[in-house]
Amino acid sequence: MTVAAALAIQDLKAGFGAQILDIALPAASDAELDGVVDAFHHHGAILIRDQAMTPDDLMAFIARFGEPEDHTQTRFTLPGYPKIFILSNRVVEGRPIGAHNDGVGWHTDYSYKPEPVMCTMLYCVEAPAEGSDTLLADGCAAWNALPPEKQAQLEGLKLHHSYKHFMATREFGAMVLSEEMARANPDVEHPLIRTHPANGRKALWPSTGTVTEVIGLPGPEGLALIDELVAFMTGDDFVYRHKWKAGDLLMWDNRCTLHTGTLYDDTQYFRTMHRLWVKGDKPY
Ligand code: SIN
Repeated sequence: MTVAAALAIQDLKAGFGAQILDIALPAASDAELDGVVDAFHHHGAILIRDQAMTPDDLMAFIARFGEPEDHTQTRFTLPGYPKIFILSNRVVEGRPIGAHNDGVGWHTDYSYKPEPVMCTMLYCVEAPAEGSDTLLADGCAAWNALPPEKQAQLEGLKLHHSYKHFMATREFGAMVLSEEMARANPDVEHPLIRTHPANGRKALWPSTGTVTEVIGLPGPEGLALIDELVAFMTGDDFVYRHKWKAGDLLMWDNRCTLHTGTLYDDTQYFRTMHRLWVKGDKPY
Protein backbone atom coordinates (compact mmCIF):
# COMPACT_ATOMS: atom_id res chain seq x y z
CA MET A 1 0.00 0.00 0.00
CA THR A 2 1.33 3.44 -0.92
CA VAL A 3 1.11 6.56 1.24
CA ALA A 4 -0.36 9.55 -0.63
CA ALA A 5 2.33 12.09 -1.50
CA ALA A 6 2.09 15.69 -0.28
CA LEU A 7 1.57 17.79 -3.41
CA ALA A 8 2.01 21.49 -4.17
CA ILE A 9 -1.54 22.83 -4.09
CA GLN A 10 -3.25 26.22 -4.23
CA ASP A 11 -6.94 27.13 -3.84
CA LEU A 12 -9.02 27.71 -6.97
CA LYS A 13 -11.27 29.85 -4.81
CA ALA A 14 -11.08 30.37 -1.05
CA GLY A 15 -12.49 27.19 0.50
CA PHE A 16 -13.29 25.47 -2.80
CA GLY A 17 -11.24 23.61 -5.40
CA ALA A 18 -7.50 23.12 -5.70
CA GLN A 19 -4.94 23.58 -8.43
CA ILE A 20 -2.28 20.88 -8.25
CA LEU A 21 1.12 22.14 -9.36
CA ASP A 22 4.32 20.52 -10.61
CA ILE A 23 2.94 17.18 -11.71
CA ALA A 24 2.91 15.32 -15.04
CA LEU A 25 0.08 12.81 -14.70
CA PRO A 26 1.22 10.17 -17.24
CA ALA A 27 4.58 9.84 -15.42
CA ALA A 28 3.34 10.34 -11.84
CA SER A 29 4.05 7.75 -9.13
CA ASP A 30 1.30 5.83 -7.32
CA ALA A 31 1.88 7.98 -4.24
CA GLU A 32 1.47 11.20 -6.26
CA LEU A 33 -1.68 9.90 -7.93
CA ASP A 34 -3.11 8.90 -4.54
CA GLY A 35 -2.38 12.49 -3.46
CA VAL A 36 -4.31 13.81 -6.47
CA VAL A 37 -7.32 11.61 -5.60
CA ASP A 38 -7.16 12.78 -1.96
CA ALA A 39 -7.02 16.42 -3.11
CA PHE A 40 -10.11 15.88 -5.27
CA HIS A 41 -12.09 14.39 -2.39
CA HIS A 42 -10.94 17.08 0.01
CA HIS A 43 -11.49 20.14 -2.20
CA GLY A 44 -14.50 19.20 -4.38
CA ALA A 45 -12.70 20.14 -7.62
CA ILE A 46 -9.16 19.96 -8.99
CA LEU A 47 -7.33 21.64 -11.82
CA ILE A 48 -4.08 20.36 -13.31
CA ARG A 49 -2.59 22.42 -16.13
CA ASP A 50 -0.11 21.65 -18.91
CA GLN A 51 -0.85 17.95 -19.28
CA ALA A 52 -0.21 15.86 -22.40
CA MET A 53 -2.72 13.04 -22.06
CA THR A 54 -3.39 10.32 -24.64
CA PRO A 55 -6.81 8.61 -24.50
CA ASP A 56 -5.13 5.66 -22.73
CA ASP A 57 -3.63 8.07 -20.16
CA LEU A 58 -7.09 9.56 -19.57
CA MET A 59 -8.60 6.11 -19.07
CA ALA A 60 -5.84 5.07 -16.64
CA PHE A 61 -6.20 8.32 -14.70
CA ILE A 62 -10.01 8.30 -14.39
CA ALA A 63 -9.92 4.69 -13.13
CA ARG A 64 -8.12 5.98 -10.02
CA PHE A 65 -11.39 7.66 -9.00
CA GLY A 66 -13.76 4.75 -9.57
CA GLU A 67 -15.46 2.92 -12.41
CA PRO A 68 -15.81 5.01 -15.59
CA GLU A 69 -19.46 5.62 -16.60
CA ASP A 70 -21.00 5.17 -20.05
CA HIS A 71 -22.49 8.06 -22.00
CA THR A 72 -26.18 8.35 -22.77
CA GLN A 73 -25.55 9.61 -26.33
CA THR A 74 -23.02 7.28 -27.92
CA ARG A 75 -22.56 8.89 -31.34
CA PHE A 76 -19.90 11.33 -30.12
CA THR A 77 -17.66 8.97 -28.18
CA LEU A 78 -14.02 8.74 -29.28
CA PRO A 79 -13.57 5.79 -31.69
CA GLY A 80 -12.24 2.84 -29.68
CA TYR A 81 -12.93 4.63 -26.37
CA PRO A 82 -16.64 4.35 -25.44
CA LYS A 83 -16.09 6.09 -22.08
CA ILE A 84 -14.54 9.22 -23.65
CA PHE A 85 -17.14 11.66 -24.97
CA ILE A 86 -16.09 14.45 -27.34
CA LEU A 87 -17.35 18.02 -26.98
CA SER A 88 -16.42 19.93 -30.12
CA ASN A 89 -17.54 22.26 -32.88
CA ARG A 90 -15.18 20.64 -35.42
CA VAL A 91 -16.69 19.08 -38.52
CA VAL A 92 -14.50 16.47 -40.28
CA GLU A 93 -15.47 15.22 -43.73
CA GLY A 94 -18.90 16.79 -43.34
CA ARG A 95 -19.64 15.21 -39.94
CA PRO A 96 -19.48 16.83 -36.47
CA ILE A 97 -16.90 14.97 -34.36
CA GLY A 98 -18.51 15.96 -31.05
CA ALA A 99 -21.47 17.56 -29.28
CA HIS A 100 -21.41 21.34 -29.59
CA ASN A 101 -22.47 23.60 -26.66
CA ASP A 102 -23.58 20.45 -24.85
CA GLY A 103 -23.23 21.64 -21.24
CA VAL A 104 -24.52 25.22 -21.42
CA GLY A 105 -26.98 25.86 -18.56
CA TRP A 106 -26.45 25.19 -14.83
CA HIS A 107 -26.75 21.48 -14.09
CA THR A 108 -25.24 18.43 -12.45
CA ASP A 109 -24.37 15.56 -14.79
CA TYR A 110 -26.70 12.57 -15.21
CA SER A 111 -29.25 14.08 -12.79
CA TYR A 112 -31.92 12.19 -14.75
CA LYS A 113 -30.47 8.81 -13.70
CA PRO A 114 -31.16 6.91 -10.44
CA GLU A 115 -27.41 7.05 -9.72
CA PRO A 116 -25.98 10.28 -11.19
CA VAL A 117 -22.26 10.36 -11.94
CA MET A 118 -19.91 11.02 -9.02
CA CYS A 119 -17.50 13.21 -10.95
CA THR A 120 -16.88 14.78 -14.33
CA MET A 121 -13.47 15.28 -15.89
CA LEU A 122 -12.82 17.61 -18.81
CA TYR A 123 -9.51 17.50 -20.66
CA CYS A 124 -8.91 20.38 -23.03
CA VAL A 125 -7.57 19.42 -26.46
CA GLU A 126 -8.00 22.91 -27.95
CA ALA A 127 -9.62 26.09 -26.63
CA PRO A 128 -10.79 29.44 -28.03
CA ALA A 129 -8.70 32.48 -27.14
CA GLU A 130 -11.82 33.96 -25.51
CA GLY A 131 -15.16 32.64 -24.21
CA SER A 132 -16.10 29.00 -23.52
CA ASP A 133 -15.23 29.21 -19.79
CA THR A 134 -16.57 26.48 -17.51
CA LEU A 135 -18.13 27.68 -14.24
CA LEU A 136 -18.37 25.56 -11.07
CA ALA A 137 -20.73 26.47 -8.22
CA ASP A 138 -20.03 25.24 -4.68
CA GLY A 139 -23.28 23.80 -3.29
CA CYS A 140 -21.93 23.29 0.26
CA ALA A 141 -20.91 26.95 0.63
CA ALA A 142 -24.29 28.03 -0.76
CA TRP A 143 -26.17 25.76 1.67
CA ASN A 144 -24.10 26.99 4.64
CA ALA A 145 -24.85 30.60 3.67
CA LEU A 146 -28.64 30.14 3.85
CA PRO A 147 -30.41 31.30 7.02
CA PRO A 148 -31.61 28.44 9.29
CA GLU A 149 -35.30 29.16 8.57
CA LYS A 150 -34.69 28.84 4.81
CA GLN A 151 -32.72 25.64 5.37
CA ALA A 152 -35.64 24.23 7.39
CA GLN A 153 -38.05 25.11 4.54
CA LEU A 154 -35.89 23.30 1.96
CA GLU A 155 -34.82 20.24 3.92
CA GLY A 156 -36.73 17.14 2.78
CA LEU A 157 -37.91 18.57 -0.57
CA LYS A 158 -37.53 16.32 -3.61
CA LEU A 159 -37.22 17.15 -7.31
CA HIS A 160 -38.68 15.34 -10.29
CA HIS A 161 -36.05 14.96 -13.06
CA SER A 162 -36.82 13.99 -16.65
CA TYR A 163 -34.35 13.27 -19.45
CA LYS A 164 -37.21 13.30 -21.97
CA HIS A 165 -38.17 16.82 -20.87
CA PHE A 166 -34.54 17.95 -20.88
CA MET A 167 -33.86 16.74 -24.42
CA ALA A 168 -37.13 18.16 -25.77
CA THR A 169 -36.60 21.64 -24.30
CA ARG A 170 -32.87 22.32 -24.30
CA GLU A 171 -31.56 25.31 -26.20
CA PHE A 172 -28.90 23.48 -28.25
CA GLY A 173 -29.56 20.12 -29.91
CA ALA A 174 -33.18 19.64 -28.74
CA MET A 175 -34.68 16.32 -29.83
CA VAL A 176 -37.62 14.01 -29.27
CA LEU A 177 -36.37 10.77 -27.70
CA SER A 178 -36.85 7.49 -29.50
CA GLU A 179 -39.08 4.96 -27.71
CA GLU A 180 -35.98 2.98 -26.83
CA MET A 181 -34.16 5.98 -25.31
CA ALA A 182 -37.27 7.02 -23.37
CA ARG A 183 -37.60 3.49 -21.94
CA ALA A 184 -33.90 3.42 -20.99
CA ASN A 185 -34.19 6.80 -19.21
CA PRO A 186 -37.36 6.87 -17.06
CA ASP A 187 -38.01 9.89 -14.83
CA VAL A 188 -36.45 9.91 -11.34
CA GLU A 189 -36.75 11.82 -8.06
CA HIS A 190 -33.78 13.21 -6.11
CA PRO A 191 -33.40 15.33 -2.98
CA LEU A 192 -32.98 19.10 -3.33
CA ILE A 193 -30.46 19.04 -0.49
CA ARG A 194 -27.86 16.34 -1.00
CA THR A 195 -25.71 14.82 1.75
CA HIS A 196 -22.17 13.94 0.68
CA PRO A 197 -21.70 10.21 1.38
CA ALA A 198 -17.98 10.58 2.23
CA ASN A 199 -17.96 13.62 4.52
CA GLY A 200 -21.59 14.17 5.57
CA ARG A 201 -21.63 17.77 4.32
CA LYS A 202 -24.91 19.06 2.89
CA ALA A 203 -25.13 20.81 -0.47
CA LEU A 204 -27.80 22.71 -2.37
CA TRP A 205 -28.43 20.49 -5.40
CA PRO A 206 -31.15 22.12 -7.53
CA SER A 207 -29.96 21.73 -11.20
CA THR A 208 -31.85 23.03 -14.22
CA GLY A 209 -32.90 21.48 -17.51
CA THR A 210 -34.04 18.12 -16.15
CA VAL A 211 -36.21 19.41 -13.27
CA THR A 212 -39.92 19.45 -14.08
CA GLU A 213 -41.41 19.78 -10.62
CA VAL A 214 -40.71 20.21 -6.92
CA ILE A 215 -42.61 17.35 -5.25
CA GLY A 216 -45.22 18.88 -2.96
CA LEU A 217 -44.91 22.34 -4.58
CA PRO A 218 -46.35 21.70 -8.06
CA GLY A 219 -46.48 24.20 -10.90
CA PRO A 220 -44.89 27.64 -11.11
CA GLU A 221 -44.37 28.04 -7.36
CA GLY A 222 -41.94 25.11 -7.21
CA LEU A 223 -40.13 26.07 -10.41
CA ALA A 224 -39.76 29.66 -9.16
CA LEU A 225 -38.12 28.26 -6.01
CA ILE A 226 -35.63 26.32 -8.19
CA ASP A 227 -34.86 29.47 -10.21
CA GLU A 228 -34.33 31.40 -6.97
CA LEU A 229 -31.98 28.75 -5.53
CA VAL A 230 -29.98 28.34 -8.74
CA ALA A 231 -29.56 32.14 -8.96
CA PHE A 232 -28.40 32.20 -5.33
CA MET A 233 -25.96 29.30 -5.68
CA THR A 234 -24.46 30.61 -8.91
CA GLY A 235 -23.73 34.10 -7.60
CA ASP A 236 -20.10 35.26 -7.59
CA ASP A 237 -19.57 34.27 -3.94
CA PHE A 238 -19.86 30.57 -4.73
CA VAL A 239 -18.52 30.28 -8.29
CA TYR A 240 -15.12 29.42 -9.74
CA ARG A 241 -14.71 30.47 -13.41
CA HIS A 242 -12.24 28.40 -15.42
CA LYS A 243 -10.59 29.91 -18.49
CA TRP A 244 -9.32 27.08 -20.66
CA LYS A 245 -5.94 26.42 -22.20
CA ALA A 246 -5.02 23.28 -24.17
CA GLY A 247 -3.64 20.68 -21.74
CA ASP A 248 -5.88 21.72 -18.81
CA LEU A 249 -7.58 18.94 -16.89
CA LEU A 250 -10.46 19.99 -14.64
CA MET A 251 -12.52 17.62 -12.46
CA TRP A 252 -15.38 18.29 -10.10
CA ASP A 253 -17.53 16.38 -7.64
CA ASN A 254 -21.10 16.39 -8.96
CA ARG A 255 -22.50 15.49 -5.53
CA CYS A 256 -21.89 18.99 -4.21
CA THR A 257 -21.62 21.29 -7.25
CA LEU A 258 -23.45 22.64 -10.28
CA HIS A 259 -21.60 23.57 -13.46
CA THR A 260 -22.18 25.22 -16.81
CA GLY A 261 -20.30 25.74 -20.03
CA THR A 262 -20.45 29.15 -21.72
CA LEU A 263 -20.71 30.22 -25.34
CA TYR A 264 -17.90 31.34 -27.63
CA ASP A 265 -17.50 32.63 -31.16
CA ASP A 266 -17.68 29.33 -33.02
CA THR A 267 -17.26 31.06 -36.38
CA GLN A 268 -13.75 32.07 -35.31
CA TYR A 269 -12.54 29.42 -32.85
CA PHE A 270 -12.45 25.67 -32.30
CA ARG A 271 -13.06 24.07 -28.91
CA THR A 272 -12.49 20.34 -28.34
CA MET A 273 -12.73 18.63 -24.97
CA HIS A 274 -12.62 15.02 -23.85
CA ARG A 275 -15.18 14.32 -21.14
CA LEU A 276 -15.10 11.33 -18.79
CA TRP A 277 -17.44 10.36 -15.99
CA VAL A 278 -17.14 8.17 -12.89
CA LYS A 279 -20.11 6.15 -11.68
CA GLY A 280 -21.94 7.52 -8.66
CA ASP A 281 -24.49 6.33 -6.11
CA LYS A 282 -28.08 7.03 -5.10
CA PRO A 283 -28.40 10.58 -3.73
CA TYR A 284 -29.84 11.10 -0.23
C1 SIN B 1 -20.46 19.68 -19.39
O1 SIN B 1 -21.41 20.23 -18.84
O2 SIN B 1 -20.31 18.47 -19.28
C2 SIN B 1 -19.47 20.47 -20.20
C3 SIN B 1 -19.22 21.86 -19.76
C4 SIN B 1 -18.33 22.59 -20.71
O3 SIN B 1 -18.21 22.21 -21.88
O4 SIN B 1 -17.73 23.60 -20.30
